[in-house]
Amino acid sequence: MAIFRTKCLALLAVFTGLSIATPSSHSAIKCPITIDGRIPRNTPLSTFDTAASPFDANYTKGQNLTWSQILKYPDVDPSKFDGSSHNKALEVTINDFSIFVSGGTDVQHGFRRAGLLMGNGSDASNEGVKTFHWSMRQDWHARMNLTHEYMNVWHEANDYASNQFSLNVGIMLEQDKPKDGNVSTIGLDKRQWKVLDRRNNVIWTQKIVWDEWQNFAVTVDYEKNTLQIYYSEGYDPLRPVTKPVPNDNSGGGQFQIGILKKPTETTSVVFDGYQESGIFEGQIYGGIFIEDSNRGCVSR
Ligand SMILES: *[C@@H]1O[C@H](CO)[C@@H](O)[C@H](O)[C@H]1NC(C)=O
Ligand SMILES: *[C@@H]1O[C@H](CO)[C@@H](O)[C@H](O)[C@H]1NC(C)=O
Ligand SMILES: *[C@@H]1O[C@H](CO)[C@@H](O)[C@H](O)[C@H]1NC(C)=O
Ligand SMILES: *[C@@H]1O[C@H](CO)[C@@H](O)[C@H](O)[C@H]1NC(C)=O
Ligand SMILES: *[C@@H]1O[C@H](CO)[C@@H](O)[C@H](O)[C@H]1NC(C)=O
Repeated sequence: MAIFRTKCLALLAVFTGLSIATPSSHSAIKCPITIDGRIPRNTPLSTFDTAASPFDANYTKGQNLTWSQILKYPDVDPSKFDGSSHNKALEVTINDFSIFVSGGTDVQHGFRRAGLLMGNGSDASNEGVKTFHWSMRQDWHARMNLTHEYMNVWHEANDYASNQFSLNVGIMLEQDKPKDGNVSTIGLDKRQWKVLDRRNNVIWTQKIVWDEWQNFAVTVDYEKNTLQIYYSEGYDPLRPVTKPVPNDNSGGGQFQIGILKKPTETTSVVFDGYQESGIFEGQIYGGIFIEDSNRGCVSR
């Protein structure tokens, strides 16, 4: 009885602690938008195969797949920055054919990947102070297999040798351990999102949440060479979850959003290793945009 009562009190605490924010309490974007990846409600999927796509129509995807085959419109409420009716969520999927051929010749057998690419590597999103926003949620019928390491969102440097930041999940490969320092990625809970800096140090972690939007933002200060992470769930305002941390933000790059599933039992990571067959996995995204955070402006 005592145990039952304690449980009830705990439940009550959980309920009273719950946010009352609802899909109707969407957040406005208050800083100038540098690149907008939000999807107007009436956009046909075929648009993503053309130059009218907010993303690069040719990258980064399976050689024989089109974006209109890869993307789905899931039946979920719009994310907090999508507005209650103007924009909608987009699901990026991978299957056995999600094999990218780099430069038309290097078949990346190690990966299954589909990544929406924004910008060209030398645009305004690489200057000053910019905040990269995205919201994401899970599709129960197209779950990731966290025995693998995934990289879902990242800013890849123009020389492809590293990422200014990335969001990873699953069991991290030995090859992706920090390039220096001692903040190990190995042995972390596979269900945790891990935000990595340029040298693969873990700067923040957060468990995957099911049946709710998880909202992320990363402020990249190209002048002071720092990163700062913001986060919230559902329709709650973003709050800073790190201080600005030192990072090498040089070299330019592109924002990529989707799924990159790495192999197990691999040497090169990119070209060899094990991938099970018969997969169908997805990640739902919304509220994708890059804003100008000059003078500390960050939409919350
Ligand atoms: C994609 O690549 C093709 C072939 O190189 C090119 O004709 C087309 O313009 C490209 N599309 C976009 C949107 O860049
Ligand atoms: C794409 O299709 C061509 C022609 O069937 C095939 O030779 C090639 O291997 C396919 N690419 C991939 C990555 O499966
Ligand atoms: C990249 O995009 C920016 C902004 O649209 C443009 O000014 C610049 O010329 C582009 N650079 C290249 C190399 O295409
Ligand atoms: C890394 O190791 C050094 C020397 O043992 C220690 O002073 C430092 O606090 C460690 N850094 C982190 C982030 O754990
Ligand atoms: C997850 O991936 C591992 C390695 O590819 C595979 O052995 C296992 O069967 C997969 N599990 C599920 C539930 O698909």
